[in-house]
Amino acid sequence: MTDQVAPLDVRPAAGHIGAEISGVDLAREVPDEVVAAIRAALLRWKVVFFRGQQWDHAAHLAFARRFGEPVRPASRGSASPRDVPEIETTADRLELGGRYGMEHEEWLRRRRHTLLRGWHCDHGARVDPPAATILRAETVPPYGGDTTWSNLAAAYAGLSAPVRAFVDGLRAEHRLGVGYQPRPGDDAYVRHLLDRQTATDHPLVRVHPETGERVLFVNGYYVEQILGVSRPESRALLDMLLEQAVRPEYTVRFRWEPGSVAFWDNRATVHLAPADTDRVDHPRVMHRVMLAGDVPVGVDGRPSVPLAGCAPGQW
Ligand SMILES: [Fe+2]
Repeated sequence: MTDQVAPLDVRPAAGHIGAEISGVDLAREVPDEVVAAIRAALLRWKVVFFRGQQWDHAAHLAFARRFGEPVRPASRGSASPRDVPEIETTADRLELGGRYGMEHEEWLRRRRHTLLRGWHCDHGARVDPPAATILRAETVPPYGGDTTWSNLAAAYAGLSAPVRAFVDGLRAEHRLGVGYQPRPGDDAYVRHLLDRQTATDHPLVRVHPETGERVLFVNGYYVEQILGVSRPESRALLDMLLEQAVRPEYTVRFRWEPGSVAFWDNRATVHLAPADTDRVDHPRVMHRVMLAGDVPVGVDGRPSVPLAGCAPGQW
């Protein structure tokens, strides 16, 4: 199947999520009708992919500005360009080794409180998580390093009616650093977490501000606890909802090449950063821009409430 949105070719990549868009050079001035067509494809397919784009930081940022307000994160990876505060660069092998006084492997092991922990939306513990992320690949390994996304609106729709009605009214605490098992004695990562605590009371089902869809707003990375129920109840419910959120039929997996761009709706998806890049000795350099997002709103109209360390619009 091909959706023809002249002059774009929007080619769905999986049943519920993902579409590859071709026929557009994003390094040039993009016409308004193309911006509108890309936005429509993004809202429908939740993540759209472009290949072979010749972007520098300025072109990346100019494209992002057509879709929203790029945020300027207060803390960025050390590989990020100093003169472009909206661009975050990840060069993971350089960045993570020894950063908290422990090897990357140990740090990962101490963070894995659930097998689905890697699934997240960007900055989900904030009261206003970014609306979208635009990630471009500069250097990628010859194999490994794929990213996977899951459609949380499809996951919600796939629940049975009684369970949908039940979860509609629930809230959950999202917190940075969930499940981390501290090292005995001094632990630099615990100090880092305490320095920059971020937590929010979010609706478990959020209403998407543009599509009106209900979204199962869970992930394995930030959700600490469903509120108003016991801890064992929360654990059992979360296990079920996390499995539902990332069922294979709701996902799409993307193989990066230099010049690939992924643009996702961070309000309606979770994604899984690759965990296999240590298998190949090759740099992986990616640049991202995030667009400012709304404070989520539940089915009952109640917005998210900040619990620690964040205020809307403040980065
Ligand atoms: Fe991410």
